[in-house]
Amino acid sequence: MTATSRSNFQWEFVRQPSTVGAIAASSVFLAREMVRGFDWQRIRTVVEYGPGTGAITGEILRQIQPGTRYAAIEINPSFVRHLRTRYPDVPVHQTSATDVANVCVKEGIGRVDAIVSCLPWASFGDQLQSAILDAAVAVLAPDGQFATFAYLQGLLLPGGMRLRHRLRRCFASVETSRVVWRNLPPAFIYRCRNPRLATGDAPADRQ
Ligand SMILES: C[S@@+](CC[C@H](N)C(=O)[O-])C[C@H]1O[C@@H](n2cnc3c(N)ncnc32)[C@H](O)[C@@H]1O
Repeated sequence: MTATSRSNFQWEFVRQPSTVGAIAASSVFLAREMVRGFDWQRIRTVVEYGPGTGAITGEILRQIQPGTRYAAIEINPSFVRHLRTRYPDVPVHQTSATDVANVCVKEGIGRVDAIVSCLPWASFGDQLQSAILDAAVAVLAPDGQFATFAYLQGLLLPGGMRLRHRLRRCFASVETSRVVWRNLPPAFIYRCRNPRLATGDAPADRQ
């Protein structure tokens, strides 16, 4: 990680703590763990959510096969500018992950084989979590894969608990990785496969 990336990330965290969600960008250890478990040989379309300064983007680009379509969705304009400088050939869309269907249309992507999410779910409200997951399930291929990291301490927060329940409803298979301690804060990964339904929040699920 360059000094510019580091200071940019920390400054944006100070400005928008709940959207950025972490004091530091992901470590290389978390980035490597994030890309494990994807079937890169068969994946032809990938969307990354919340690439920030690109800590995980580089690992994804190293894994994908030639010809694979990749698009990034990042809401923060400062990060978007940073990413466009760091990865000039990569399409970065400045919008919310709720808008993934429109991004796919613009990129000529039909079904998405893989979504790599770096979003700060635990700090999201109920409706935003639900809207982002519903939108993801709607664009994923039937055998699509979805991975998202989660900070360990977020497990104790209502948003973190909601996410775990929602993932289990939305995907036929949800596995958790080992904890990556060499990250600030420590994190683990939910690895999900086979989207099956929209979150369709029943009132009882909202807490
Ligand atoms: C925890 S940071 C992760 C940054 C980077 N991927 C990393 O691992 O270091 C969360 C990122 O998600 C972005 N973000 C937050 N809400 C978003 C949304 N609704 N749609 C797209 N990006 C969002 C933030 O701007 C930030 O870049």
